[in-house]
Amino acid sequence: MPDTIVVNNEPFDVYISQEQIRRRVKELAAQIDRDYAGKVPIFIGILNGSFIFIGDLVREVTVDCEIDFMKLSSYGDAKISSGQVQMVKELNCQVSGREILVVEDIVDTGLSVDYIRRHILAEKPASLRFVSLLLKKGIPKIDFSIDYVGFEIPPEFVIGYGLDYGQKLRNLKAVYRQRPSA
Ligand code: IMP
Repeated sequence: MPDTIVVNNEPFDVYISQEQIRRRVKELAAQIDRDYAGKVPIFIGILNGSFIFIGDLVREVTVDCEIDFMKLSSYGDAKISSGQVQMVKELNCQVSGREILVVEDIVDTGLSVDYIRRHILAEKPASLRFVSLLLKKGIPKIDFSIDYVGFEIPPEFVIGYGLDYGQKLRNLKAVYRQRPSA
């Protein structure tokens, strides 16, 4: 994995390495295993960004579980959130009475998780928790906590391990951070 990549003449540096991610994913899975022992949670991956994280996470989890996906769109093709969340793909599973674990790649403004929370609570799950690989510090718009956080990061633009820049670079194996301009 290169330490630096250049996209549209903008340099990005490795911020969280493959190895750091791998270790943290194992820790989160162990915590989830303990918390959900004897239960059968449904992991709900939020597309597109969480597809790699949820794939790695559920393969480390050993409790019986089900997996489903929802797709939202809030980001356009750039680095700035449009501020509006829309449902693009609904869940296929029955949420009512089930233990639900929503899996996000990153919580930035919190608009997406807030929307998801309201949407899922309306279906009366037995419980609802959130897992996010990344959490940007100082998120202003939510009044509940993210239960399992991989890494807290400053509010900077990051890519890789599922996170895109103009829909590209999701396949980078590490998380890269845009280098601050000099
Ligand atoms: P929020 O609704 O502002 O919390 O943003 C949620 C979604 O925006 C995430 O699931 C990502 O898909 C996208 N996003 C937020 N911050 C970044 C970033 O730094 N890089 C790439 N995508 C991001």
